[in-house]
Amino acid sequence: MPPRNPNDPITRRLQEHNAWVYSLKESGRYIFHVLVDDQTQGAWVTVGGRRMLMMATYSYLGLIGHPRLAKAACEAAERYGTGGHGSRTLSGTLPIHLELEEALAAFKGTEAAMVFPTGYVTNVSTIASLVGRGDYIISDKYNHASLIDGAIMSGAKLLRYRHGDLDMLERRLRSVPPEAGKLIIADAVFSMDGDILDLPRVVDLARKYDAWLMVDEAHSVGVLGKTGRGIEEHFGMPGVIDIKMGTLSKAIPSMGGYIAAAQWIIHAIRHRARGYIFTGAMSPVVAAVALEGLRLLQEETWRVEKLQANTRRFLRGLRERGFDILRSETPVVPIMAPGLDLAMRLTRAVMARGLFILPVTAPAVPEGQDRLRATVTAAHDEKDVDYALDALTDAAREVGLPLRA
Ligand SMILES: Cc1ncc(COP(=O)(O)O)c(C=O)c1O
Repeated sequence: MPPRNPNDPITRRLQEHNAWVYSLKESGRYIFHVLVDDQTQGAWVTVGGRRMLMMATYSYLGLIGHPRLAKAACEAAERYGTGGHGSRTLSGTLPIHLELEEALAAFKGTEAAMVFPTGYVTNVSTIASLVGRGDYIISDKYNHASLIDGAIMSGAKLLRYRHGDLDMLERRLRSVPPEAGKLIIADAVFSMDGDILDLPRVVDLARKYDAWLMVDEAHSVGVLGKTGRGIEEHFGMPGVIDIKMGTLSKAIPSMGGYIAAAQWIIHAIRHRARGYIFTGAMSPVVAAVALEGLRLLQEETWRVEKLQANTRRFLRGLRERGFDILRSETPVVPIMAPGLDLAMRLTRAVMARGLFILPVTAPAVPEGQDRLRATVTAAHDEKDVDYALDALTDAAREVGLPLRA
C-alpha cells in the first residue's frame, strides 16, 4: 500500500487512536488479548505455561471442553461439511439449522425461533427490522452495545433512561405520541453490573403504554430460573416478553444468536432482517454444538443449581469482606476499583495470585466506575470460590483498595 498523507482525516484518526493505545501500553495500563494456551480443563486455564483460575468467562455452566460438544462438532463436520453454500435464503437451509431453531423455540416456550451468525448481529438486525423512522425506542443506558447499535441503525428515535430508573422509563413512554410505534429494549442481566431487569414492572409499563418489549438474555439463559430458562422463569412470568433474544456464545459455548417469538413475528423478521438475509448460513458445526449445548443445559440441571450456589457464596463472601460489588445478584460481579490506575494495579495483583480476572475501564463503563469484572461458573467448586475470595482480599490490601469495615 502506498504511504498515506498524514493529514488525511481517516489516517489521522487511526494514528491518533493508535498513539493513545501505545501510551497506555507504555505506562503499563493496558491488558488486552491475553494468550490462553489451554481452556479445556474445567475452571482452570493455562496462560504462558501457568495454571490460573478462570474468572473472566461467560461459560457459566462450565461446558467448554465437554466431550459431547466435541463429538457433535466432529459428527456435523462429517455429515454436512464445515461451511454453507451461502445465505440460507439463497443457497439452502440445512436440517441442523431447523433442528436448532425448533429446540430453541421449545426451550424458550415460543412458537418459533430463528438463528443468526452472532448475538451482536441478532440484536442489530432484529431491531432494525422491527422499527424505523417515526418509531421510538426506549432503552436503559447500560444496555449492551449491540442493542444501542441496532437502535441507531434502525433510524427510529432513541430515548434513553438512567440505568434501572423505571420512573424515567415511564416518563419517556408518556412523552411519545400515542399512535407511534414503541419498542422497549433491555438486558435481562446487565453485563457490566450483574443486576437483573425488573421484569414485572417493565411488563406493566409496556402494557400500559402499548409498547413492544424486547429482552436480551445473553447473560440470563443458563443463569436465571430454577432450570436456567431465563428471566421469565426467574420471575414466574412465562410468555410476557414479545421478543426474546439470546446468544449461543455464553452458557451454551458455541457461536451465534437467536430470536424466539410468535410464529408471525419470526416469519416477518426472517424476511426483513438484513443480518439474516445478506450473510452466510451459520456453519453446521457451530449449529450442532449449539444444539448439543442446549440439550446438556436441559439434561444436566445440576449445573444450573451449582452455578447459583457458587454465585450466592461468591457474592456473600465479597460483601462480607467489604468489597463494593454494586447490586449484582448474578455470576457477573463488578469489583469496583475506581480510577484506571487502581483498576490496573488490582488486576496485576490478582493475576499474580493466579486468578484470571480482567479490568473494565472507561469508556466501556462511565468515568470513575472502573472495575474488575469477575464471573463464577458451575465449573468452580467451593474451594475455588474460597480461594478467589482470599486472593482478592489479599490483593486489595496490597494495592490499598478501600474495603468497607
Ligand atoms: C448483553 C449482550 N448482548 C449481546 C452480546 C453479543 O453476543 P455475541 O458475543 O454472541 O455476539 C453480548 C456479548 O458479550 C452481550 O453481553
